[in-house]
Amino acid sequence: MAVKLSAFAGYSESRGWRGARLPSVTSELLQQLEQVSDEARRGLEAAADVAALTEQERLIAAKQGPLGDISRALGSLDAEGKKTVGAALNAVRAELKELSQARRSVLEAKERQARLEAERLDLTEVLGAPVDGHLHLITRTRYELEDVFLGMGFTVAEGPEVEDDWHNFEALNFPPGHPARSSWDTFFVELGSEEQVLLRTHTSPVQIRVMESQKPPIYSVMPGQCFRRETPDARHLAVFNQIEGLVVDKGITFGDLAGCIDTFTQAYFGPGIHARLRPAFFPFTEPSAEFEVVCFFCKGDGCRTCSKTGWIELGGCGMVDPNVLQAVGIDPEEYSGFAFGFGIERCAQLRHDIDDMRVLLDNDIRFLTQF
Ligand code: DAH
Repeated sequence: MAVKLSAFAGYSESRGWRGARLPSVTSELLQQLEQVSDEARRGLEAAADVAALTEQERLIAAKQGPLGDISRALGSLDAEGKKTVGAALNAVRAELKELSQARRSVLEAKERQARLEAERLDLTEVLGAPVDGHLHLITRTRYELEDVFLGMGFTVAEGPEVEDDWHNFEALNFPPGHPARSSWDTFFVELGSEEQVLLRTHTSPVQIRVMESQKPPIYSVMPGQCFRRETPDARHLAVFNQIEGLVVDKGITFGDLAGCIDTFTQAYFGPGIHARLRPAFFPFTEPSAEFEVVCFFCKGDGCRTCSKTGWIELGGCGMVDPNVLQAVGIDPEEYSGFAFGFGIERCAQLRHDIDDMRVLLDNDIRFLTQF
């Protein structure tokens, strides 16, 4: 019967075991066993990683392997010989098993250590320098947008994240039961009468609060967090930020709106990134438009990001509906205004080429430290 020693690591061809016939004499078989077990032991000790060790274990256990061959050769021995070699074979198997278990725990610990080393954040790198956090990209983007509008003469206002139906919908010209309400997937708060308190679905209610609290002329932007019952994907989050703009003054026209949006776009995204307006519908503006910016990636040539159109939608805008002005006691005969609103995360995504918006909320340090 052939003994396949070559299967074990450390086996040397020159020792010539391959093809040898197993002697049927007990003492020679024991000697053979000793050599096979030496080879196996060396194989286990030489295994450099868990995968190599597993391969060695497989060879030891294999029916067609060297130990299997010896086991089969037992058949040709007399009763006494079977007992002696059988017991020795069992002892060798037990010893090899113990050895491989010990080796496995060493190798596994080594691999775990290597993995930890690879993933480790070396916080000692900042030793000596002050440990310095920095603003999250969303906050930074918000501040940068605010700065652009401050530079254009706007003030910054804020409103509450928990709103009432009046500010979020009704004063914005969504009467109760208006079908457009359902396109703002609202989280309602169990407070007061049913569906009267909610997490604001946009920053537009802050327009109402600003107009309730101050007289025109108004030139304000209103950044803040909004909430929608939406499944997050690469371009949407359920908790996100918008920045709203509102201008109310005498003689404000649609041309002022278009100029304001284009000025902002170039100031934030850089020269050459223009905006264009396309007709749309919002209950609180008439006429209403969606504004799009030249695709940041292809500069208008058309690519995958902009679905080959050369443009990317950023937000909504329009002339403030006279009903909205009336709801807050501003005379639409005397004043007119425009408003706009768009997503802050979307701006960051475009400007920093972020494939999937959800990374903004993951808090993965490898992402955060890039900004
Ligand atoms: N509030 C709208 C939204 O969340 C965006 C918007 C559209 C704001 C038109 C405006 C506007 O101020 O005039 O989708």
